[in-house]
Amino acid sequence: MTTADNALFQWVPIRSLAPRHRERAAQHLLALEPRDRYLRFGYAATDEQVRRYVDGLDFERDELFGIFNRKLVLIAMAHLAYAPEAKTPEQRRTAEFGVSVLKQARGRGYGARLFDRAMLHARNRGCDRLFIHALSENSAMLKIAANAGATVQRDGPESEAWLKLPPDDLASRVDELVSQQAAELDFRFKVHAHRMNRLMGMVRDVGDHISEKGRIASE
Ligand SMILES: CC(C)(COP(=O)(O)OP(=O)(O)OC[C@H]1O[C@@H](n2cnc3c(N)ncnc32)[C@H](O)[C@@H]1OP(=O)(O)O)[C@@H](O)C(=O)NCCC(=O)NCCS
Repeated sequence: MTTADNALFQWVPIRSLAPRHRERAAQHLLALEPRDRYLRFGYAATDEQVRRYVDGLDFERDELFGIFNRKLVLIAMAHLAYAPEAKTPEQRRTAEFGVSVLKQARGRGYGARLFDRAMLHARNRGCDRLFIHALSENSAMLKIAANAGATVQRDGPESEAWLKLPPDDLASRVDELVSQQAAELDFRFKVHAHRMNRLMGMVRDVGDHISEKGRIASE
């Protein structure tokens, strides 16, 4: 397999999320099991705290990315946050990454792909550092960060990972644009397929109903 084939094989449609996806984001996070919520937020977030987090998401300032399955369920989601009260230029060039993947979709590389996408976006937005705060027991998250070249500092139960980002260039801009457009196209196909499935289901129901009526009438 060539490098290009390999890249295509590993391609995962990642969409930018907008305010209209707020409820889906809430459903995604509420579907996380208690331990995963604990790992995601760093504390045992209640439903109410999850809702408050989602209500407070700023889609203008930050970037939210998602992966949808064929049934249009948001199975993975990442939040790239910028410091709202950044005072120094260094803080303004730093973005923080948070991610979650539903249990049934784990181990397929979605977490790592979302991280790649966040790195690309942060670079293109002029950031030169990515920050990840994770619990030290969160091997999967720390592995994703370390695999990308981040420096991980463990401090007891908490860990911080810092990743230096290269400056943006034409390739990084084109890469993000193409990925975004391809993911939009993929989503439209999924919406279409979903509608067709529902339509076929309705046609089948009507067919069953008619044959049932015919059977009763002939009895
Ligand atoms: C962390 C999380 C997003 C990883 O998602 P994922 O899609 O399963 O991860 P990937 O498939 O991309 O795997 C990334 C790497 O982690 C490794 N990994 C995955 N699960 C692991 C685990 N339980 N223990 C150790 N390593 C693990 C994979 O082997 C892979 O490394 P490799 O490429 O060197 O083989 C997911 O486990 C999750 O949602 N956890 C709950 C929320 C959370 O912890 N969020 C992070 C805090 S911000």
